[in-house]
Amino acid sequence: MSSQSQAGNKAWGGVFEEAADPRMEKFTESISFDQRLYRQDIRGSQAHAAMLGKIGFLTESEVTAIHDGLEGILKDIEAGNFEYSLKLEDIHMHVEKELINRIGDTGRKLHTGRSRNDQVSTDFRLWIRDAIDEMDGLLKNLQRAFVDRCDGDFDCIIPGYTHTQRAQPVLAPHYWLCYVEKYARDRERLADCRKRVNTLSLGAAALAGTSIPIDRFETARLLDFERVAANSLDVSSDRDFALEFVFCLTLIAEHLSTWAEEWILWSTCEYGFIKLPQKFCTGSSIMPQKVNPDLLELIRGKTARVVGSLQTLVVLVKGLILAYNRDLQEDKEPVFDAFDTVSASLSLAADMVRGAELNRESIGERLEKGYLDATTFMEFLIKRGIPQRTAHGMVGRLVRSAMNRGIALAELPLEEFQKECAELDESVYEILGVRRAIEAFQSYGSTAATQVREQIEAWKKRLEE
Ligand code: ARG
Repeated sequence: MSSQSQAGNKAWGGVFEEAADPRMEKFTESISFDQRLYRQDIRGSQAHAAMLGKIGFLTESEVTAIHDGLEGILKDIEAGNFEYSLKLEDIHMHVEKELINRIGDTGRKLHTGRSRNDQVSTDFRLWIRDAIDEMDGLLKNLQRAFVDRCDGDFDCIIPGYTHTQRAQPVLAPHYWLCYVEKYARDRERLADCRKRVNTLSLGAAALAGTSIPIDRFETARLLDFERVAANSLDVSSDRDFALEFVFCLTLIAEHLSTWAEEWILWSTCEYGFIKLPQKFCTGSSIMPQKVNPDLLELIRGKTARVVGSLQTLVVLVKGLILAYNRDLQEDKEPVFDAFDTVSASLSLAADMVRGAELNRESIGERLEKGYLDATTFMEFLIKRGIPQRTAHGMVGRLVRSAMNRGIALAELPLEEFQKECAELDESVYEILGVRRAIEAFQSYGSTAATQVREQIEAWKKRLEE
């Protein structure tokens, strides 16, 4: 084969006199990863062809031939009967070339009024739109896993921490619902991102639009896009939607990672709060006693990849002039990788949450350690008219005195309390101790049983929808 005819093999063959260097083909291909867009590419092309039929650029039988030809390609790809080649660069070229092979000259009309620049953007938007819907389901499933634990764990109090130091008591379901709230924000963020993803790019063509009288609103209707991008230059250059999506994924990964870190600590002998399901742990090849929380560690560890994907995208688009630049081909892998990582983490996390058991005994044994009732005791004094700063000092001194003796506040004799505040009587003992401290919380959103119960019921309803 002469180099000229090899160059002519490409979609752009006409102007070329020299064949591509094979290293160049290998370096610049995207088929190895954008084959994941095959379904979106085919759906996009079917809609484009239908629109070309509507405006009279394709006959009805041509539209049918293209539609059916593409449907056949879709089936073959799904059945694994499709051959990919680096020579054809990307999924768009593969599908189009195969269509021409199958239906002949009619297939050569498909690329009328479009370019790969708007095509790739369309395919990517369609893919991300589906990915968002899948992600929403996975987040909801994890929220359910937490909410489903709430009734069974309702009576369990766990120390709450600030600075990793014991601070105030918290009901276990208050912990669970804390994560439910975080994932609710993640779902809202994704829903918001979806609005911008759901914009039709196709028809912007290379960068300036097209002289073919296409009907972009018809294409949008066929592909269920809510709006049509109004500036063709913007379409070719815009990857905001991919960045936003990966930012949403990054926050989800961060939420998963902090939870994983917490449960890793909770599963240690030092904390002893939780027993992890063995099917999500591994042992040691040398220390026979070990049960290691590898799944949680890797959920935490893989967060780095997701952050890395966001970083890649942010740097990728920096300094690209309008409109399309080939750099943009590098946008797919970080998106795919971030999605795969976060979706696998979410699905495993939900089963981990369902399978873990609280070590009530070990939590209970040390619950009175750490003066978790000090704040509500101080507030008890405030409610009796003592200024907050004064009450803070009094309770601080009482805690010091109890610490020195190695006892809890409730174990101090009444005289100690009266030394600080003469009006105090036996009723102080009614508000001391962790259980009573929990009951004292009343503000909206607090860890008081009544508040938590309200939130549990509200979440059960919200997650039914
Ligand atoms: N493989 C390319 C990508 O994924 C397709 C777009 C090519 N457009 C172009 N003008 N070379 O971005």
